[in-house]
Amino acid sequence: MKVTVVTRSGRELFKGGVELNDSATVADLQEEIYKRTKKFYPSRQRLTVPIQPGSKERPIVLNSKKSLKDYCDGNSNTLTVVFKDLGPQVSYRTLFFCEYLGPLIIYPIFYYFPVYKFFAYKGERVKHPVQTYACYYWCFHYFKRIMETFFVHRFSHATSPLSNVFRNCAYYWTFGAYIAYYVNHPLYTPVSELQWKIGFGFGLLCQLANFYCHILLKNLRSSDGGGGYQIPRGFLFNIVTCANYTTEIYQWIGFNIATQTVAGYVFVVVAAGIMTNWALAKHRRLKKLFDGKDGRPKYPRRWVILPPFL
Ligand SMILES: NC(=O)c1ccc[n+]([C@@H]2O[C@H](COP(=O)([O-])OP(=O)(O)OC[C@H]3O[C@@H](n4cnc5c(N)ncnc54)[C@H](OP(=O)(O)O)[C@@H]3O)[C@@H](O)[C@H]2O)c1
Repeated sequence: MKVTVVTRSGRELFKGGVELNDSATVADLQEEIYKRTKKFYPSRQRLTVPIQPGSKERPIVLNSKKSLKDYCDGNSNTLTVVFKDLGPQVSYRTLFFCEYLGPLIIYPIFYYFPVYKFFAYKGERVKHPVQTYACYYWCFHYFKRIMETFFVHRFSHATSPLSNVFRNCAYYWTFGAYIAYYVNHPLYTPVSELQWKIGFGFGLLCQLANFYCHILLKNLRSSDGGGGYQIPRGFLFNIVTCANYTTEIYQWIGFNIATQTVAGYVFVVVAAGIMTNWALAKHRRLKKLFDGKDGRPKYPRRWVILPPFL
């Protein structure tokens, strides 16, 4: 069969198109494009079915596992696909590892090393127990996230644009330094022992609940990340769609009850805002996928992220 690959401006990527076997898959076409261009490896390519000019419809993205024939009209032996370069890609694991490694290294630097002398504090620094436990709590949190990235999550997308590494690292590393600076500050005033014990205890329970939510999400997919999106069930997922985000937000609230810094609360507000946006999109997607029509199950009534408000 003959496949014509055009760019979004309508220019042919290869003059005369590409000749492929009739049983060729989208992945075969992607390999052929890579072989010819030597630059656009498969995860960098986005191939779509052309849409009518001026149409408001979203273009259909070709699934690499499907046969090219599935996208041909009737018995036609020709196909035109639109190519888009997604730019350099990194694996999701690399992305998550980079963004979490920063806070895991930056925070203890403020706790263990005499950094405050560079900020004009010359005196002896007294470390309060709450600062010590905050450092352990923080490191445990990011260590857990790195472990989950490698051993728990089953991502559906193999890669993410390289530019996300810089954006996400800027977010996590800057907030890590901002919070670490204030919690470990020589002039830091600790809360009562009862309060920090309640804060860390509650936060730790939420971290364990968050871990269990990630195990439940993992079990919705096969080990190669296949299986698409399913209705998450069990534990807190029976009442809230994004229980993993709910527990993530609450564990940061626990950390803040214990450490009480403006920097920490600013982070909770920003992180909760980001996760709320994502949760709304995930909730919408599940409701659309499971609409109760044509034999599909109906998505149950649930809160999105923060019961009883949303
Ligand atoms: N502090 C912060 O600012 C912040 C922000 C975001 C996340 N986090 C933390 O990082 C964790 C991971 O974040 P994330 O955004 O990657 O979480 P996520 O998308 O909700 O889920 C984690 C994994 O489960 C999969 N998954 C989610 N819903 C599914 C469903 N209905 N059916 C099948 N698989 C499903 C996801 O697949 P896909 O690969 O298809 O997405 C992903 O591999 C969060 O749970 C949270 O603890 C923190």
